Amino acid sequence: MNSKGNIGRSHRNPLVGRTSELEMLRQLLFVPQRGAKARLQRNASAIPLDTLRKPQCMVLIGEAGIGKTRLAEETSREAQQRGWAVAWSRSYAQESTIPYRLWIEILRSLISNDPWQKQELHKHPLLLARLAALLPELYMLLPDDESPIRQSSEQEQQSLWEAILELFKLSIERTPLLVVLDDLQWADSSSCELLAYLVRRLSNFPIVFLGTCREIELVPKHPLRPLMAHMQREHTITTLQIQPLTDAAINTLIAGIQLPEHVVQDIREQAAGNPFFAEELAYSYSVASPSTNEHTAQPARKKSSSLPHSIAAALDQRMSKLSRDCQQLLGNAAILGGSFEFSLIRSMEINNSASDEDTVLDLLDEALQSGVLTEEGRGARVNYHFWQPLLVSHLYDGLSATRRALLHRRAADILRQSYANREAEGGRHHHPSPCCRRSRTTTNRSLCNNSRRSRLRSLGLPRSRTLLSHRYRKCSIGPGGLPAHHCP
Ligand SMILES: Nc1ncnc2c1ncn2[C@@H]1O[C@H](COP(=O)(O)OP(=O)(O)O)[C@@H](O)[C@H]1O
Ligand SMILES: [Mg+2]
Repeated sequence: MNSKGNIGRSHRNPLVGRTSELEMLRQLLFVPQRGAKARLQRNASAIPLDTLRKPQCMVLIGEAGIGKTRLAEETSREAQQRGWAVAWSRSYAQESTIPYRLWIEILRSLISNDPWQKQELHKHPLLLARLAALLPELYMLLPDDESPIRQSSEQEQQSLWEAILELFKLSIERTPLLVVLDDLQWADSSSCELLAYLVRRLSNFPIVFLGTCREIELVPKHPLRPLMAHMQREHTITTLQIQPLTDAAINTLIAGIQLPEHVVQDIREQAAGNPFFAEELAYSYSVASPSTNEHTAQPARKKSSSLPHSIAAALDQRMSKLSRDCQQLLGNAAILGGSFEFSLIRSMEINNSASDEDTVLDLLDEALQSGVLTEEGRGARVNYHFWQPLLVSHLYDGLSATRRALLHRRAADILRQSYANREAEGGRHHHPSPCCRRSRTTTNRSLCNNSRRSRLRSLGLPRSRTLLSHRYRKCSIGPGGLPAHHCP
């Protein structure tokens, strides 16, 4: 438990954006103070289901690096300034099978950081004995004649939960408490169930639970899914989806590293609102080119291989959730740029191996479910977009030179054939060019950027030298699978 010390990481950029998120988090801290007064007035011990009550548990949801932990850190500081105690815990992927792992640190800190609390516990040997099941060091505090309690495993669980509840009630008797549970996607199932129990039982007490979660990494059977749905129905939990930062916020975030405008623009495009990616790209640029000069400056990543390790690791971690076949399909699709049509990837895959249309669809579904791709459109004209521009570069880099050459040739053949067919049809009917149709129907940045870059190129003006545009200049297929010369 931390009532004065530093919260979270020490090396930080100043917070940018997030005004409305912080406001919502501030509101969350108001609830139990009001609730505590009401509880004292009514002397109520259990609160009935009340659809009007304000949840005292919030889960911040979003992709890795989007700023969930940072918001939890900011909220913790704010809580401390208001005189709250703060208890933090974090789940790790490697520890997700250890029962109650998420709570052990919190319980330990509740007991050890508050001498008053320890004294109080001495008066409750039964409570100590039950908590000792999770915190063995408490056996030392038990009177010698205290014998172990024999119970069925269900009773044991109930007694443990009740003991933990009592401990929390003791802790918040004098100071309101913020409990932060970072990276809930890796929490074990008993920890998740205990969270739901505590949130329900401590409703209207001066306590707030703040979780962070990469929803996309919650496996379909993760216990948190049904629990959160149930708690939402009970009005005991609320979720806040953390959106990408705006371009202006990313500019401010990396303004401390004096970078030329075209590099800043490149970073903005590549990071797509993710502050972690933006920080890492800016840092790697500043290390690679310490003396910044507008004329000699290189783009944010001169070569694909210069993708910072931290970013590559985050992208690999995301890809590792997918089957090998799906990873291979996405690697092949990276040849086509940030987005591609179903018909195009299907033709490439069918030529490529024994995979039939259904298999390609299944693999695309797998990528959609994992959030690596998003889809847009209907019927035969479905467009798939990669979740992150950097992922496209990363996957492309993962292909061997021979494979790249082969896939480029295959894509070029398919496109040539497809345009020949369309032109033959165009003689009979007038259609807008496929590229125009696409740029009207898609919101994908890389397509729009491709059109913009191509326009600048045709006017002989300089453009941002991003990896993809550089790459497609060579092979004459624009990101999105269109020959660059077809763009307006
Ligand atoms: N709004 C923001 N302003 C400034 N820096 C931010 C902001 N959001 C995140 N960051 C920084 O980006 C990095 C990743 O954020 P983090 O909170 O760890 O992401 P997540 O927990 O969602 O994976 C951290 O260095 C953090 O300080
Ligand atoms: Mg985090």
